[in-house]
Amino acid sequence: MSRQREHWGSRLGFILAAAGSAIGLGSLWKFPYITGQNGGGAFVLIYLLCMLLVCFPLFIGELVIGRATAKTPVAAFSILSGKHSSWKGAGWLAIGATLIVFSYYAVVAGWALNYTLLSLSQFTKGRTPEEIASVFTLLASSGSINVLWQALFLLLTAGVVYGGVREGIERWAKILTPALFLILIALAIYSMTLPGFKEAARFLFVPDTARLTAHGILEALGLSFFTASLGFGIILTYGSYMRPIDDIPKTSLIVLLMTLAVALIAGIMIFPIIFSFGFEPQAGPGLVFITLPILFAKLPGTLVLSTAFFLLLVFTALTSTVSLLENLSASCMELFSWPRHRSVWIVTLLVFIMGLPSSLAASGKLFSAWPAMFGADFFVTISSLVDRWFLPISGLLISLFVGWAMPKEMRDAEFLKGTTWGRFLKPWLFLIRWLVPAMILLLIFQATGMIDVDALFNRS
Ligand code: PHE
Repeated sequence: MSRQREHWGSRLGFILAAAGSAIGLGSLWKFPYITGQNGGGAFVLIYLLCMLLVCFPLFIGELVIGRATAKTPVAAFSILSGKHSSWKGAGWLAIGATLIVFSYYAVVAGWALNYTLLSLSQFTKGRTPEEIASVFTLLASSGSINVLWQALFLLLTAGVVYGGVREGIERWAKILTPALFLILIALAIYSMTLPGFKEAARFLFVPDTARLTAHGILEALGLSFFTASLGFGIILTYGSYMRPIDDIPKTSLIVLLMTLAVALIAGIMIFPIIFSFGFEPQAGPGLVFITLPILFAKLPGTLVLSTAFFLLLVFTALTSTVSLLENLSASCMELFSWPRHRSVWIVTLLVFIMGLPSSLAASGKLFSAWPAMFGADFFVTISSLVDRWFLPISGLLISLFVGWAMPKEMRDAEFLKGTTWGRFLKPWLFLIRWLVPAMILLLIFQATGMIDVDALFNRS
């Protein structure tokens, strides 16, 4: 059953595909509103540190496991730890997280498609801000429209992954990732000309520690995990297609710096618009879909501005869903020996069905008693389940595995292969053995309520 494993065609191809996975709704949708809610500059600084000190070592760790085994998560853990080892559970956890995130991510991505079409049809023309805002409520509560966009987005994703690693994922990443950079930079330059730019820059880049809570620090850590696509085994799978000549530490740093840059440029683009109109930055998840369309309507060039922005969201979301689907399909190919096309369609169908409760969450058509029981609708419940539990636990297991359990010689050899940064092996080991697990444990303890970091640091 040993099919020849596919490989990336070039270093650039891998970088663009991995950056495409990492850059997504996390950077363009979550980062701005969470930064808004956490007071700006100081939060951004902590996010930056989390990316460099926690995500960077872990990113290398996932790639090391992936390239060393040339397998997807479940098989990779079982090869490295013996068939009956319980480490295999770490692989399943990563797969579970991928499945859940994919199910609801496709729904949000579908909203971006919907808003692209809305922008093209100039939906804000002649409408009051309240009416523009109400379009989102209308969309969220309309079950069938949500399902339509969700299905369409999944089909787009399947179309890319169907083509395989080089012909599908890499080829499209080479088009979509540079395109999203271009659109983003053009929009950011536009925003820099707005009167609110100065205030926005101060908000984003001047740290005001008084506004930072210990809780905010953990939130930055969780966000950095999500935006770096860590804890899903996705980077591991992408690593399994790397060639021995590829430089793991250096490419990891490049990918993370690109992700960071996008989040920051997204901030530079969004906040001046918000401040120019005297809005508050802490609008919450509706920031991108409610606040921005209202503001786009007040600016010159609404049609182009709004369409370009939502198209940008579609592109970024697509390169991310591609990585989610690849992780699942490649796992099926390996575990059940299915051919690629069968794996892709079966997984797509499964994710579509699993996403229905999220799609229908706000319409009350399915699980209508859910909000009363859980205090939040289905969509919100499962997304916080993954963010608060699956990802940190999975990240913890991966760091412990790489740091302590994986065969030492193999790990070190994999880090050193193809790199000129051999001198960083020791510092990397220190981070992945101690700092990464310690930070993640703190996150988990806070989530369980075992400690209250705010009280610990005497802030209320
Ligand atoms: N990193 C992506 C983002 O920021 C989210 C994602 C997570 C994508 C995991 C794929 C896998 O939006």
